[in-house]
Amino acid sequence: MTIYLDNNATTRVAQEILEEALPYFHKMWGNPSSPNNQGLIAHKATSKARQQVANLINCDPEQIIFTSGATESNNIALIGHALSMGRKSGNIIIPKFEHPSVLETSKRLSSLGFKVQYLNITPDGVIDLNELKSLISQHQTNFISVMHANNETGVIQPLSEIREILNGNDIFFHTDAAQTVGKLSIDVQKLGLDSLSLSGHKIHSFKGVGALFIKNPNKILPIIYGGSQEYGIRPGTLNVPGIVALGKACEIASQGFFDYSKTKQLRDYLEKEILRRLKNLAVSGVNSERLPTTSNICFFYTEGDAIVANLNKNKIEVSTGSACSSQNFNHSHVLKAMGLPPEVTIGSVRISLAYDTSEKEIKRTIEQIENSVNLCREISPIYLDLIKKKKVNT
Ligand SMILES: Cc1ncc(COP(=O)(O)O)c(C=O)c1O
Repeated sequence: MTIYLDNNATTRVAQEILEEALPYFHKMWGNPSSPNNQGLIAHKATSKARQQVANLINCDPEQIIFTSGATESNNIALIGHALSMGRKSGNIIIPKFEHPSVLETSKRLSSLGFKVQYLNITPDGVIDLNELKSLISQHQTNFISVMHANNETGVIQPLSEIREILNGNDIFFHTDAAQTVGKLSIDVQKLGLDSLSLSGHKIHSFKGVGALFIKNPNKILPIIYGGSQEYGIRPGTLNVPGIVALGKACEIASQGFFDYSKTKQLRDYLEKEILRRLKNLAVSGVNSERLPTTSNICFFYTEGDAIVANLNKNKIEVSTGSACSSQNFNHSHVLKAMGLPPEVTIGSVRISLAYDTSEKEIKRTIEQIENSVNLCREISPIYLDLIKKKKVNT
């Protein structure tokens, strides 16, 4: 049986979520904007889902806009709010380790004339709060976007502390919570967020559906134009089955049925065993608060791609860095921002667990990681040369 440990890339659709959504493909296929029975049924279903999403993050259902996923939500929040602010109105702060859906969008904003400042990351994988304070005191900042937890390292960012730093300034605060919604408890009101992105397929619902929480829809201009759906901010016919699935996932998460209490123990056990069995490695962000699901380990004197390929051959599916960047031969921008050199980041492997990952799966993964790393090192001329020169611990 294959062991799937790439849950930060995407998750398996949960059976009860699939069952909830299926009838909306073929039995209840209406357009929620249509003034007929099918349309009313679809409208009712999307309204219920809107409430389910809102319940999970503690906002009003009117503050939820359905999108195609976190990429689109981030684009709408960043470009939509920047457009509403106007080009000359100040600075946008973006940490260097954001997901490409934020980083690439910020580069586009910069090329359009908006001032973007890129915030440094500490070696522990957390944004540099001192630098944030000084940027805000020295420059007029209007907009900041900080992801809730990083998708490569799982390091959770101190959103409450950021909120405190922002207090007293009129700064729009966005977070990309694609990796945390459904896994951590989130209260957008307590966190004082202006907007938040979330994604269906990270929480056992469908790909191609997500949502944007927006405190005040007037602070966002549309980036695509069409009908009046979702306040005209996200026009287009709603993806009813996807939205029903997302709503159900949020309901399950609200009720605590995705139980991550054992996941942290399993992740910690995996790291402890790997550290016991192998030398010359580093766990990224190990000193920081991390998602219980995520372990990112840099194995020195190896290539992460080779380890991942070998594990894959042995029916264990993990990943290097994030899925979006693992097809490029770039070193992880996240680990680079944490100050790690390319010779270390090239050996990085991301193992991401689900709420239902079992101890048996983790035990087999540990064995296979040990075998794969040893195998990769045995055929590495650099490693063998370092051993000969007694420059490496064996
Ligand atoms: C932190 C983060 N933001 C955004 C995204 C993009 O989400 P989606 O696939 O829903 O567009 C991902 C997915 O990899 C992610 O991990």
